[in-house]
Amino acid sequence: MTDTHSAPATLPTRRSDLLNPPEEYRRLREEEPVSRLSFPDGTVGWLVTRYEDVRAVLADPRFSTYLARHSSPVRATPPEERGELPPGHFISMDAPDHTRYRRLLTGQFTVRRMRALIPRVEQIVNGRLDVMEQVGEPADLVEAFALPVAALVICELLGVSYDDREYLQEVSETLMSSDAPTSELYAAVAGLSTYLRDLVRAKHEQPGDDIISGLVTGDNGLTDEEIAGMALPLLLAGYDAAANMLGLGVLALLLEPDQLAPLRGDDQVAQDNLVEELLRYLTTVHLGTIRGAKEDVRVGGELVREGEIVVASLAAANRDPQCCPDPDRLDVTRGRTSHLAFGHGPHQCLGQQLARVVLKVGYRELFRRFPGLRLAVPPEEIDTRDDKVMYGVYALPVAWSDQ
Ligand code: HEM
Repeated sequence: MTDTHSAPATLPTRRSDLLNPPEEYRRLREEEPVSRLSFPDGTVGWLVTRYEDVRAVLADPRFSTYLARHSSPVRATPPEERGELPPGHFISMDAPDHTRYRRLLTGQFTVRRMRALIPRVEQIVNGRLDVMEQVGEPADLVEAFALPVAALVICELLGVSYDDREYLQEVSETLMSSDAPTSELYAAVAGLSTYLRDLVRAKHEQPGDDIISGLVTGDNGLTDEEIAGMALPLLLAGYDAAANMLGLGVLALLLEPDQLAPLRGDDQVAQDNLVEELLRYLTTVHLGTIRGAKEDVRVGGELVREGEIVVASLAAANRDPQCCPDPDRLDVTRGRTSHLAFGHGPHQCLGQQLARVVLKVGYRELFRRFPGLRLAVPPEEIDTRDDKVMYGVYALPVAWSDQ
Protein backbone atom coordinates (compact mmCIF):
# COMPACT_ATOMS: atom_id res chain seq x y z
CA MET A 1 0.00 0.00 0.00
CA THR A 2 1.34 3.47 -0.82
CA ASP A 3 1.17 6.17 1.87
CA THR A 4 -1.08 8.36 -0.30
CA HIS A 5 -4.12 6.31 0.75
CA SER A 6 -6.75 7.28 3.27
CA ALA A 7 -7.56 4.66 5.90
CA PRO A 8 -9.64 1.83 4.41
CA ALA A 9 -13.30 2.83 4.19
CA THR A 10 -16.41 0.73 3.71
CA LEU A 11 -18.24 0.74 0.37
CA PRO A 12 -20.24 3.96 -0.10
CA THR A 13 -23.94 3.05 -0.29
CA ARG A 14 -25.66 6.20 1.01
CA ARG A 15 -27.27 8.14 -1.82
CA SER A 16 -28.20 11.78 -1.80
CA ASP A 17 -31.12 11.18 -4.16
CA LEU A 18 -33.10 8.43 -5.89
CA LEU A 19 -31.35 8.21 -9.23
CA ASN A 20 -27.72 9.01 -8.54
CA PRO A 21 -24.98 6.81 -7.07
CA PRO A 22 -23.34 7.92 -3.78
CA GLU A 23 -21.62 11.27 -4.16
CA GLU A 24 -18.41 9.82 -2.66
CA TYR A 25 -17.70 8.01 -5.95
CA ARG A 26 -16.93 11.32 -7.65
CA ARG A 27 -14.22 12.17 -5.11
CA LEU A 28 -12.78 8.67 -5.26
CA ARG A 29 -12.62 8.69 -9.09
CA GLU A 30 -10.84 12.02 -9.05
CA GLU A 31 -8.54 11.61 -6.04
CA GLU A 32 -8.17 7.91 -5.21
CA PRO A 33 -9.42 5.86 -8.16
CA VAL A 34 -8.00 2.64 -6.72
CA SER A 35 -8.69 2.99 -3.00
CA ARG A 36 -8.41 0.68 -0.02
CA LEU A 37 -11.72 -0.92 0.93
CA SER A 38 -12.63 -2.57 4.18
CA PHE A 39 -14.82 -5.68 3.94
CA PRO A 40 -17.35 -6.74 6.61
CA ASP A 41 -15.31 -9.93 7.24
CA GLY A 42 -12.40 -7.77 8.44
CA THR A 43 -10.20 -8.12 5.34
CA VAL A 44 -8.96 -5.14 3.35
CA GLY A 45 -9.13 -5.07 -0.43
CA TRP A 46 -9.66 -2.47 -3.12
CA LEU A 47 -12.36 -0.33 -4.68
CA VAL A 48 -11.89 0.62 -8.35
CA THR A 49 -13.98 3.52 -9.63
CA ARG A 50 -12.58 4.75 -12.97
CA TYR A 51 -14.08 3.52 -16.23
CA GLU A 52 -10.82 2.32 -17.81
CA ASP A 53 -9.64 0.60 -14.62
CA VAL A 54 -12.98 -1.17 -14.10
CA ARG A 55 -12.87 -2.45 -17.69
CA ALA A 56 -9.27 -3.56 -17.24
CA VAL A 57 -10.07 -5.54 -14.06
CA LEU A 58 -13.10 -7.25 -15.62
CA ALA A 59 -11.22 -8.22 -18.79
CA ASP A 60 -8.08 -9.48 -17.00
CA PRO A 61 -7.86 -13.29 -16.54
CA ARG A 62 -5.56 -12.72 -13.54
CA PHE A 63 -8.71 -11.62 -11.70
CA SER A 64 -10.85 -14.54 -10.58
CA THR A 65 -14.56 -14.76 -9.90
CA TYR A 66 -14.03 -18.04 -8.07
CA LEU A 67 -11.65 -16.49 -5.55
CA ALA A 68 -14.24 -13.81 -4.78
CA ARG A 69 -17.18 -16.19 -4.42
CA HIS A 70 -17.51 -15.72 -0.65
CA SER A 71 -16.69 -12.00 -0.60
CA SER A 72 -19.17 -9.21 -0.45
CA PRO A 73 -18.65 -5.52 0.31
CA VAL A 74 -21.82 -5.52 2.45
CA ARG A 75 -22.02 -8.90 4.21
CA ALA A 76 -19.64 -11.34 5.87
CA THR A 77 -19.88 -15.11 5.47
CA PRO A 78 -18.20 -16.91 8.41
CA PRO A 79 -15.57 -19.49 7.25
CA GLU A 80 -17.56 -22.45 8.61
CA GLU A 81 -20.49 -21.50 6.37
CA ARG A 82 -18.54 -21.29 3.13
CA GLY A 83 -19.74 -24.24 1.06
CA GLU A 84 -18.35 -25.38 -2.28
CA LEU A 85 -20.03 -24.41 -5.56
CA PRO A 86 -22.90 -26.58 -6.73
CA PRO A 87 -22.11 -28.32 -10.06
CA GLY A 88 -22.79 -26.11 -13.08
CA HIS A 89 -22.78 -22.83 -11.10
CA PHE A 90 -20.75 -21.25 -13.88
CA ILE A 91 -21.07 -17.60 -12.87
CA SER A 92 -18.69 -18.21 -9.95
CA MET A 93 -16.17 -20.17 -12.05
CA ASP A 94 -13.10 -19.11 -14.01
CA ALA A 95 -11.79 -20.34 -17.34
CA PRO A 96 -11.64 -23.06 -18.55
CA ASP A 97 -14.70 -24.41 -16.64
CA HIS A 98 -16.59 -21.14 -16.97
CA THR A 99 -15.87 -21.01 -20.70
CA ARG A 100 -17.17 -24.54 -21.27
CA TYR A 101 -20.50 -23.99 -19.48
CA ARG A 102 -20.94 -20.49 -20.85
CA ARG A 103 -20.43 -21.70 -24.41
CA LEU A 104 -23.15 -24.31 -23.98
CA LEU A 105 -25.50 -21.63 -22.72
CA THR A 106 -24.59 -19.08 -25.40
CA GLY A 107 -25.68 -21.79 -27.85
CA GLN A 108 -29.10 -21.64 -26.19
CA PHE A 109 -29.43 -17.83 -26.28
CA THR A 110 -29.81 -18.00 -30.05
CA VAL A 111 -30.96 -15.12 -32.24
CA ARG A 112 -33.88 -17.39 -33.24
CA ARG A 113 -34.98 -17.94 -29.64
CA MET A 114 -34.57 -14.25 -28.73
CA ARG A 115 -36.60 -13.22 -31.83
CA ALA A 116 -39.29 -15.76 -31.02
CA LEU A 117 -39.52 -14.27 -27.52
CA ILE A 118 -40.34 -10.73 -28.74
CA PRO A 119 -44.05 -11.39 -29.45
CA ARG A 120 -44.27 -13.33 -26.18
CA VAL A 121 -42.75 -10.39 -24.29
CA GLU A 122 -45.29 -8.09 -25.99
CA GLN A 123 -48.12 -10.38 -24.94
CA ILE A 124 -46.84 -10.64 -21.38
CA VAL A 125 -46.41 -6.85 -21.07
CA ASN A 126 -49.83 -6.09 -22.54
CA GLY A 127 -51.45 -8.79 -20.42
CA ARG A 128 -50.13 -7.12 -17.28
CA LEU A 129 -51.23 -3.68 -18.49
CA ASP A 130 -54.75 -5.07 -19.06
CA VAL A 131 -54.80 -6.29 -15.47
CA MET A 132 -53.52 -2.93 -14.18
CA GLU A 133 -56.23 -1.13 -16.11
CA GLN A 134 -58.95 -3.45 -14.81
CA VAL A 135 -57.83 -3.26 -11.18
CA GLY A 136 -57.52 0.51 -11.42
CA GLU A 137 -55.42 3.21 -9.86
CA PRO A 138 -53.43 3.88 -7.79
CA ALA A 139 -51.25 0.85 -8.47
CA ASP A 140 -47.85 -0.22 -7.24
CA LEU A 141 -45.95 -0.49 -10.50
CA VAL A 142 -43.39 -2.87 -8.99
CA GLU A 143 -45.98 -5.34 -7.77
CA ALA A 144 -48.44 -4.93 -10.65
CA PHE A 145 -45.99 -4.67 -13.55
CA ALA A 146 -42.21 -4.95 -13.04
CA LEU A 147 -42.10 -8.14 -10.96
CA PRO A 148 -44.73 -10.14 -12.87
CA VAL A 149 -43.36 -9.11 -16.30
CA ALA A 150 -39.81 -10.10 -15.31
CA ALA A 151 -41.01 -13.34 -13.73
CA LEU A 152 -43.15 -14.32 -16.70
CA VAL A 153 -40.37 -13.64 -19.21
CA ILE A 154 -37.80 -15.69 -17.27
CA CYS A 155 -40.32 -18.48 -16.72
CA GLU A 156 -40.94 -18.47 -20.48
CA LEU A 157 -37.20 -18.57 -21.26
CA LEU A 158 -36.48 -21.42 -18.87
CA GLY A 159 -39.76 -23.28 -19.28
CA VAL A 160 -40.77 -22.75 -15.62
CA SER A 161 -44.45 -22.92 -14.76
CA TYR A 162 -46.03 -19.56 -13.98
CA ASP A 163 -47.74 -21.09 -10.95
CA ASP A 164 -44.33 -21.20 -9.25
CA ARG A 165 -43.80 -17.47 -9.63
CA GLU A 166 -44.52 -16.51 -6.02
CA TYR A 167 -42.15 -19.11 -4.69
CA LEU A 168 -39.42 -17.95 -7.07
CA GLN A 169 -40.00 -14.34 -6.09
CA GLU A 170 -39.61 -15.10 -2.39
CA VAL A 171 -36.44 -17.13 -2.88
CA SER A 172 -34.97 -14.45 -5.10
CA GLU A 173 -35.58 -11.72 -2.51
CA THR A 174 -33.84 -13.82 0.16
CA LEU A 175 -30.85 -14.56 -2.06
CA MET A 176 -30.41 -11.00 -3.24
CA SER A 177 -30.80 -9.48 0.21
CA SER A 178 -27.67 -8.31 1.96
CA ASP A 179 -28.97 -8.88 5.49
CA ALA A 180 -30.59 -12.33 5.42
CA PRO A 181 -28.80 -14.75 7.81
CA THR A 182 -26.43 -17.11 5.98
CA SER A 183 -28.43 -20.13 7.17
CA GLU A 184 -31.49 -18.69 5.40
CA LEU A 185 -29.47 -18.18 2.22
CA TYR A 186 -28.31 -21.80 2.24
CA ALA A 187 -31.84 -23.06 2.87
CA ALA A 188 -33.11 -20.93 -0.03
CA VAL A 189 -30.41 -22.24 -2.40
CA ALA A 190 -31.06 -25.84 -1.33
CA GLY A 191 -34.82 -25.45 -1.91
CA LEU A 192 -34.33 -23.85 -5.28
CA SER A 193 -31.79 -26.48 -6.35
CA THR A 194 -34.27 -29.25 -5.53
CA TYR A 195 -36.97 -27.39 -7.43
CA LEU A 196 -34.74 -27.04 -10.49
CA ARG A 197 -33.58 -30.67 -10.40
CA ASP A 198 -37.26 -31.72 -10.48
CA LEU A 199 -37.84 -29.35 -13.37
CA VAL A 200 -34.90 -30.79 -15.33
CA ARG A 201 -36.26 -34.29 -14.75
CA ALA A 202 -39.68 -33.18 -16.01
CA LYS A 203 -38.09 -31.74 -19.18
CA HIS A 204 -36.70 -35.20 -20.03
CA GLU A 205 -40.29 -36.46 -20.08
CA GLN A 206 -41.78 -33.47 -21.84
CA PRO A 207 -39.29 -31.16 -23.54
CA GLY A 208 -40.48 -27.75 -24.71
CA ASP A 209 -38.96 -24.87 -26.68
CA ASP A 210 -37.05 -23.48 -23.71
CA ILE A 211 -33.44 -23.29 -22.54
CA ILE A 212 -33.60 -26.12 -20.00
CA SER A 213 -35.15 -28.41 -22.62
CA GLY A 214 -32.44 -27.35 -25.08
CA LEU A 215 -29.75 -28.36 -22.57
CA VAL A 216 -31.51 -31.59 -21.59
CA THR A 217 -31.91 -32.78 -25.18
CA GLY A 218 -28.54 -31.49 -26.44
CA ASP A 219 -25.53 -33.74 -27.03
CA ASN A 220 -23.38 -32.00 -24.41
CA GLY A 221 -22.52 -34.57 -21.72
CA LEU A 222 -24.17 -32.45 -18.98
CA THR A 223 -25.68 -34.20 -15.96
CA ASP A 224 -29.09 -33.17 -14.64
CA GLU A 225 -27.35 -31.69 -11.58
CA GLU A 226 -25.16 -29.52 -13.79
CA ILE A 227 -28.13 -28.31 -15.83
CA ALA A 228 -30.00 -27.40 -12.64
CA GLY A 229 -26.87 -25.60 -11.41
CA MET A 230 -26.62 -23.64 -14.65
CA ALA A 231 -30.30 -22.67 -14.54
CA LEU A 232 -30.13 -21.30 -10.99
CA PRO A 233 -28.13 -18.13 -11.73
CA LEU A 234 -30.06 -17.58 -14.96
CA LEU A 235 -33.29 -17.55 -13.07
CA LEU A 236 -32.11 -15.39 -10.21
CA ALA A 237 -29.92 -12.94 -12.11
CA GLY A 238 -32.47 -12.54 -14.87
CA TYR A 239 -35.52 -12.03 -12.73
CA ASP A 240 -34.13 -9.63 -10.20
CA ALA A 241 -32.17 -7.55 -12.70
CA ALA A 242 -34.98 -7.15 -15.19
CA ALA A 243 -37.59 -6.33 -12.53
CA ASN A 244 -35.48 -3.67 -10.83
CA MET A 245 -34.42 -2.05 -14.07
CA LEU A 246 -38.06 -1.90 -15.23
CA GLY A 247 -39.24 -0.24 -12.01
CA LEU A 248 -36.33 2.17 -11.63
CA GLY A 249 -36.39 3.12 -15.32
CA VAL A 250 -40.04 4.12 -15.04
CA LEU A 251 -39.25 6.22 -11.97
CA ALA A 252 -36.45 8.00 -13.87
CA LEU A 253 -38.79 8.74 -16.77
CA LEU A 254 -41.47 10.06 -14.43
CA LEU A 255 -38.98 12.32 -12.68
CA GLU A 256 -37.52 13.55 -15.98
CA PRO A 257 -40.53 13.54 -18.35
CA ASP A 258 -38.74 15.48 -21.10
CA GLN A 259 -36.86 12.20 -21.73
CA LEU A 260 -40.06 10.40 -22.75
CA ALA A 261 -40.19 11.62 -26.37
CA PRO A 262 -38.72 8.47 -28.04
CA LEU A 263 -41.45 6.34 -26.48
CA ARG A 264 -44.15 8.48 -28.09
CA GLY A 265 -42.82 7.92 -31.62
CA ASP A 266 -41.93 4.86 -33.67
CA ASP A 267 -38.20 5.39 -34.14
CA GLN A 268 -36.71 2.05 -33.06
CA VAL A 269 -33.16 3.37 -32.83
CA ALA A 270 -34.29 6.25 -30.59
CA GLN A 271 -36.06 3.73 -28.34
CA ASP A 272 -32.99 1.48 -28.23
CA ASN A 273 -30.89 4.51 -27.27
CA LEU A 274 -33.33 5.39 -24.49
CA VAL A 275 -32.94 1.90 -23.01
CA GLU A 276 -29.13 2.06 -23.22
CA GLU A 277 -29.01 5.46 -21.57
CA LEU A 278 -31.29 4.36 -18.72
CA LEU A 279 -29.10 1.29 -18.22
CA ARG A 280 -25.97 3.44 -18.05
CA TYR A 281 -27.41 6.21 -15.92
CA LEU A 282 -29.12 3.95 -13.40
CA THR A 283 -26.61 1.05 -13.27
CA THR A 284 -28.70 -1.19 -11.04
CA VAL A 285 -25.78 -3.58 -10.25
CA HIS A 286 -24.64 -0.90 -7.83
CA LEU A 287 -22.61 -2.77 -5.23
CA GLY A 288 -20.05 -3.60 -7.89
CA THR A 289 -18.65 -6.68 -9.55
CA ILE A 290 -16.21 -8.55 -7.31
CA ARG A 291 -12.98 -10.35 -8.20
CA GLY A 292 -9.97 -11.86 -6.41
CA ALA A 293 -6.38 -11.46 -7.64
CA LYS A 294 -4.75 -14.77 -8.66
CA GLU A 295 -1.35 -13.07 -8.63
CA ASP A 296 0.08 -9.60 -8.04
CA VAL A 297 -1.51 -7.20 -10.57
CA ARG A 298 -1.08 -3.46 -11.13
CA VAL A 299 -4.37 -1.57 -11.46
CA GLY A 300 -4.28 2.17 -12.19
CA GLY A 301 -0.77 2.38 -10.74
CA GLU A 302 -1.57 0.48 -7.51
CA LEU A 303 -0.25 -2.98 -6.71
CA VAL A 304 -3.06 -5.40 -5.92
CA ARG A 305 -1.50 -8.38 -4.13
CA GLU A 306 -2.29 -12.01 -4.84
CA GLY A 307 -5.43 -13.07 -2.92
CA GLU A 308 -6.76 -9.53 -2.38
CA ILE A 309 -10.38 -8.82 -3.29
CA VAL A 310 -11.30 -6.00 -5.66
CA VAL A 311 -14.71 -4.36 -6.06
CA ALA A 312 -14.98 -2.91 -9.57
CA SER A 313 -17.78 -0.35 -9.36
CA LEU A 314 -19.94 -0.31 -12.48
CA ALA A 315 -22.03 2.52 -11.02
CA ALA A 316 -18.94 4.72 -10.54
CA ALA A 317 -17.47 3.77 -13.93
CA ASN A 318 -20.67 4.63 -15.81
CA ARG A 319 -20.56 8.16 -14.35
CA ASP A 320 -16.94 8.71 -15.34
CA PRO A 321 -16.39 11.30 -18.11
CA GLN A 322 -14.22 8.59 -19.74
CA CYS A 323 -17.49 6.71 -20.36
CA CYS A 324 -19.30 9.62 -22.05
CA PRO A 325 -19.40 13.44 -21.92
CA ASP A 326 -21.49 15.01 -19.16
CA PRO A 327 -22.12 11.59 -17.55
CA ASP A 328 -24.30 12.87 -14.70
CA ARG A 329 -26.95 14.07 -17.13
CA LEU A 330 -29.68 11.65 -18.21
CA ASP A 331 -29.87 12.24 -21.96
CA VAL A 332 -31.74 9.61 -23.96
CA THR A 333 -30.68 11.28 -27.22
CA ARG A 334 -26.95 10.83 -26.65
CA GLY A 335 -26.65 7.70 -28.82
CA ARG A 336 -24.85 4.51 -27.93
CA THR A 337 -22.14 4.60 -25.29
CA SER A 338 -19.84 1.73 -24.29
CA HIS A 339 -21.38 1.66 -20.82
CA LEU A 340 -20.67 -1.12 -18.35
CA ALA A 341 -24.17 -1.74 -16.97
CA PHE A 342 -23.98 -5.35 -18.21
CA GLY A 343 -20.39 -5.76 -17.00
CA HIS A 344 -17.46 -6.49 -19.27
CA GLY A 345 -15.16 -9.35 -20.20
CA PRO A 346 -15.82 -13.10 -19.92
CA HIS A 347 -18.67 -12.74 -17.40
CA GLN A 348 -20.49 -9.98 -19.28
CA CYS A 349 -24.26 -10.42 -18.95
CA LEU A 350 -25.52 -13.42 -20.85
CA GLY A 351 -29.10 -12.18 -20.86
CA GLN A 352 -28.44 -8.67 -22.13
CA GLN A 353 -30.27 -9.04 -25.47
CA LEU A 354 -33.33 -10.37 -23.71
CA ALA A 355 -33.10 -7.62 -21.08
CA ARG A 356 -33.01 -4.97 -23.82
CA VAL A 357 -36.17 -6.41 -25.41
CA VAL A 358 -38.03 -6.55 -22.09
CA LEU A 359 -37.09 -2.99 -21.17
CA LYS A 360 -37.91 -1.50 -24.57
CA VAL A 361 -41.27 -3.22 -24.89
CA GLY A 362 -42.03 -2.64 -21.20
CA TYR A 363 -41.36 1.14 -21.15
CA ARG A 364 -42.95 1.73 -24.56
CA GLU A 365 -46.20 -0.15 -23.98
CA LEU A 366 -46.61 1.23 -20.46
CA PHE A 367 -46.38 4.87 -21.54
CA ARG A 368 -48.55 4.23 -24.61
CA ARG A 369 -51.29 2.66 -22.54
CA PHE A 370 -51.06 5.27 -19.79
CA PRO A 371 -49.81 8.53 -21.38
CA GLY A 372 -50.76 10.41 -18.20
CA LEU A 373 -48.74 8.08 -15.92
CA ARG A 374 -47.49 9.90 -12.82
CA LEU A 375 -46.24 9.25 -9.31
CA ALA A 376 -49.04 8.86 -6.77
CA VAL A 377 -46.78 9.84 -3.84
CA PRO A 378 -44.09 12.51 -3.39
CA PRO A 379 -40.66 11.20 -4.52
CA GLU A 380 -39.32 11.47 -0.92
CA GLU A 381 -41.69 8.68 0.10
CA ILE A 382 -40.20 6.16 -2.32
CA ASP A 383 -38.20 3.48 -0.56
CA THR A 384 -35.04 2.36 -2.37
CA ARG A 385 -32.99 -0.85 -2.31
CA ASP A 386 -29.69 0.72 -1.19
CA ASP A 387 -28.69 -2.41 0.71
CA LYS A 388 -29.46 -4.96 -1.99
CA VAL A 389 -27.19 -6.40 -4.65
CA MET A 390 -29.50 -4.87 -7.24
CA TYR A 391 -30.57 -1.25 -6.76
CA GLY A 392 -34.18 -0.35 -7.45
CA VAL A 393 -37.38 0.65 -5.69
CA TYR A 394 -39.40 -1.56 -3.35
CA ALA A 395 -42.66 -0.01 -4.49
CA LEU A 396 -43.67 2.64 -7.02
CA PRO A 397 -47.20 3.97 -6.46
CA VAL A 398 -48.57 5.41 -9.72
CA ALA A 399 -51.82 6.85 -11.13
CA TRP A 400 -52.74 7.60 -14.76
CA SER A 401 -56.18 9.13 -15.30
CA ASP A 402 -56.65 12.88 -16.05
CA GLN A 403 -56.54 14.91 -12.85
C1 HEM B 1 -31.41 -4.99 -16.98
C2 HEM B 1 -31.19 -6.18 -16.69
C3 HEM B 1 -29.81 -6.77 -16.39
C4 HEM B 1 -28.68 -6.19 -15.89
C5 HEM B 1 -28.45 -4.72 -15.52
C6 HEM B 1 -27.68 -7.25 -15.79
C7 HEM B 1 -26.37 -7.05 -15.36
C8 HEM B 1 -25.40 -8.02 -15.32
C9 HEM B 1 -24.01 -7.80 -14.96
C10 HEM B 1 -23.40 -6.48 -14.55
C11 HEM B 1 -23.36 -8.99 -15.04
C12 HEM B 1 -21.87 -9.24 -14.79
C13 HEM B 1 -21.58 -9.74 -13.40
C14 HEM B 1 -20.09 -9.95 -13.14
O1 HEM B 1 -19.26 -9.68 -14.00
O2 HEM B 1 -19.73 -10.38 -12.03
C15 HEM B 1 -24.35 -9.97 -15.44
C16 HEM B 1 -24.08 -11.30 -15.61
C17 HEM B 1 -25.05 -12.21 -15.91
N1 HEM B 1 -26.37 -11.96 -16.27
FE1 HEM B 1 -27.27 -10.19 -16.34
N2 HEM B 1 -28.24 -8.41 -16.20
C18 HEM B 1 -29.54 -8.18 -16.58
C19 HEM B 1 -30.45 -9.09 -17.06
C20 HEM B 1 -30.22 -10.42 -17.21
C21 HEM B 1 -31.16 -11.39 -17.72
C22 HEM B 1 -32.57 -11.07 -18.22
C23 HEM B 1 -30.54 -12.61 -17.65
C24 HEM B 1 -31.03 -13.98 -18.00
C25 HEM B 1 -31.98 -14.30 -18.69
C26 HEM B 1 -29.22 -12.40 -17.10
C27 HEM B 1 -28.28 -13.38 -16.88
C28 HEM B 1 -26.97 -13.17 -16.49
C29 HEM B 1 -26.00 -14.24 -16.28
C30 HEM B 1 -26.25 -15.72 -16.43
C31 HEM B 1 -24.80 -13.63 -15.92
C32 HEM B 1 -23.48 -14.33 -15.58
C33 HEM B 1 -22.67 -14.53 -16.82
C34 HEM B 1 -21.34 -15.21 -16.56
O3 HEM B 1 -20.87 -15.29 -15.41
O4 HEM B 1 -20.75 -15.68 -17.54
N3 HEM B 1 -29.05 -11.07 -16.86
N4 HEM B 1 -25.58 -9.35 -15.62
